[in-house]
Amino acid sequence: MTILTPTSKPVSGASLSDVPQGAAPAGLPDVATLSRLATAFFTALPGSAGSATPALASLGSGSGESLSAGLPVAAPVLASASNPAPPGSPLAGPGGAGTGVPGLSLPQGKAPGANLLPSAPTHVLSLGNRVPALAPHAVSQNNVPDSVTSAAPALEPRFGSAALGVGVPDGAQRDQPAASPFYFLRDAGASSGANRELPLPGHDVPTAESFGLPSIDDLLPFNSRERAGAAGGEPDRAGAFYFLDNARAPHSNEHLPQTGSAHPPFDVNAIRRDFPILQERVNGRQLVWFDNAATTHKPQSVIDRLSYFYAHENSNIHRAAHALAGRATDAYEGARDTVRRFIGAASAEEIIFVRGTTEGINLIAKTWGVQNVGEGDEIIVSHLEHHANIVPWQQLAAQKGATLRVIPVDDSGQVRLDEYQKLLNSRTKIVSVTQVSNALGTVVPVQEIVAMAHRAGARALVDGAQSVSHMRVNVQEIDADFFVFSGHKLFGPTGIGVVYGKRDLLEDMPPWQGGGNMIADVTFERTVFQAPPNRFEAGTGNIADAVGLGAAIDYVTRVGIENIGRYEHDLLAYATSVLQPVPGVRLIGTAKNKASVLSFVLKGYETEEVGQALNEEGIAVRSGHHCAQPILRRFGVEATVRPSLAFYNTCDEVDRLVSVVRRLSSRR
Ligand code: ALA
Repeated sequence: MTILTPTSKPVSGASLSDVPQGAAPAGLPDVATLSRLATAFFTALPGSAGSATPALASLGSGSGESLSAGLPVAAPVLASASNPAPPGSPLAGPGGAGTGVPGLSLPQGKAPGANLLPSAPTHVLSLGNRVPALAPHAVSQNNVPDSVTSAAPALEPRFGSAALGVGVPDGAQRDQPAASPFYFLRDAGASSGANRELPLPGHDVPTAESFGLPSIDDLLPFNSRERAGAAGGEPDRAGAFYFLDNARAPHSNEHLPQTGSAHPPFDVNAIRRDFPILQERVNGRQLVWFDNAATTHKPQSVIDRLSYFYAHENSNIHRAAHALAGRATDAYEGARDTVRRFIGAASAEEIIFVRGTTEGINLIAKTWGVQNVGEGDEIIVSHLEHHANIVPWQQLAAQKGATLRVIPVDDSGQVRLDEYQKLLNSRTKIVSVTQVSNALGTVVPVQEIVAMAHRAGARALVDGAQSVSHMRVNVQEIDADFFVFSGHKLFGPTGIGVVYGKRDLLEDMPPWQGGGNMIADVTFERTVFQAPPNRFEAGTGNIADAVGLGAAIDYVTRVGIENIGRYEHDLLAYATSVLQPVPGVRLIGTAKNKASVLSFVLKGYETEEVGQALNEEGIAVRSGHHCAQPILRRFGVEATVRPSLAFYNTCDEVDRLVSVVRRLSSRR
C-alpha cells in the first residue's frame, strides 16, 4: 500500500475577511422582539389542557375525522379501542381516552407548540390491504436463481403489515378509507421497487387554532397573510405555527421550497423549549451545548416517539404473523421513506440503515470496495477527512495493493480543486469526501468533486455526517453514488445511520454480513440473498432508533432546513466576529464557506484547560483532535477547542463562551 499525502504547511495569522466584525450581522433575528411576542403568545394560553380538550377528545374517542378547526388530523384515528392509552399515561387525553399521538396530548407543563405536531402516527388496525396469507416460501436448491432480482422472493420482508398474513378483523376496518398511510403501507405490495409517495404526518396537521390557541396572525408581525399576499395566493395555514416553517408542506425533498425570499419567523426560544436537556444545569449554570458536531440533542418529539414505539409497537420486523410485527415493520419502513424524502433519493430501496457514518463507510469499502478496487488502483480522499473516512480506505488499499491519494487544502481549509484534478486518472476507482469538515467546519463543494470524479470514470462517496443538520441535501442533485450520515448528529438517536447508494450499484454489491433478514432462501448448499436494502441489513437492526430518526427528520423538516441554515449562518458569523479578536485566539479553519464549527487554540493554554474552564461554567465543547488528526497537523496543531453550533444555540450563549475565553486570555 502506498499513501501519498500533500506537504504539510502550517499556517499562521489566518484571517476571516468575509466575517463581519463587532455587532451581530444584519438579518440576525431580533430575539428581544420575538421573545416579547412569544411571551404574549404563551400568556394567552389556557392554564391547563382544558380548552384543548374538545379537539383532543375527538381524537381520542374516535372518529378521527377532524379537529375542531375543521382541519383533518395528520393521521386518522379509529376507535380508541384500537390503541387506547392507559389511564395515567402521558399519552392519555383528559378523559383518559388518550390521543394515541404523542405531542397531541399536551402534557401538563409543556408549552403547546413545542411539540404541537404529531411526531408519531396513530395506530389503525387497517388490515384490509393484507394479502390473504403467507405465500409459499421460495424454494431453494432446485431452480432457485442466484439473483433475487430475476426471481423475487415469495415474501418481501419490508411489506410489513401488508404481507404478514394477519387476518382482517372486521369489514369496517377493511373498508376504512382513512387507514393510517404511515403505519400500514397501503400499497406496499404493489412493487418493491416503486417510488412510493406516501403521505406522511404533516400534510394535514392541526393548527394552533385547532387547540383554541391564538393564531400566529394575531401575535407575530410577520404573518401568514402577508406571505400569502406577497405570493398572490390564499393564506398559507403553515403560517399558523409560530415557528414551524412548512408545517403543512409535504415531507418531501422534492416539494419543499428550495429558496424563499420571505423569511418565516424563527423563534429560537420556542425551538429551545422542544429540547428538554437544554434546561439541564451543569456546575450550577444552565447548560450551553456547543458540542453539536459530536452529537446533537433530541427534541421531545423524538423522545416521545421512542417511548411510543416501545409502549405500543415493539416487535421484531419483517417476520411473524401478528399485529405488532406489522406495526413495527411499518414504522421502520415509514422511517426509511422519510429518510428517502429528506435526502432526495429516488427510491426507498436505496436507503440502508446502519449504526452510523462509520459503519456506513465501512460497509461500502468492504463490499463495493473489495469488489471493485484492485492492485494498482487509486482511492482519493481529502485532507479534511474524519478518521472514519480514512481508515477503511487505508485498510482496503492495504488489502488490495491500491494507493490512497489525498486532496490538499489551502490555508483557509478549503480543498484545492486544481490539485484534485491532477490526482484523477484512469486508475482512480472512488473519491470519498466529506461535505462539511467536522474539525474546521469547511463546506466542501461536493457537487463539483463528484462531477469531476465521474468525468474520470470513478465513483464518489459523500460523507454527510456534519452536513445534513445544517443544509438541504439532495443526493440526486449532488449525483453522489453513495451518501452516508448518522442519526445522532441530526437530533435523532445514537446507533442509527444511513447509507444511500444508487440502486444499480447496490444491486451489484455483495452483502457484507450474513444472517437473518438479508436472505431470500437458505439451504446448506447455498443462500439466495435479498435485494437491497435488506441484503445489507443482516440480523435484527436498530428498529426503534430508525423510527426515532424518522421523527427527528420530521422535526427538522417542520422547522425548515433553510431556516436552520440561515439562522446558524448568522450565529456562526456572530461567534466568529466576537471570538476572533480575543488576544491569543487563533482560529483553525477560515474557509469562506463554513458551517457550525469554530475551532481555535488559545495562546498559553492546552486545549484541555480551555475545555475544563468552559465546563466549569456549564459550557460543553470538544477539545482534542476530533478524530481528524491529519487536518489538524496540516495547520501545525495536535488539538483544538471546538465549539460547534446548532439551531438551538443563541448569541447569549456565544457571549458566555467568549467571556470565559477572554478571562483566560487576560491571565497569561
Ligand atoms: N465525529 C464526531 C466529532 O467530530 C465524534 O466530534
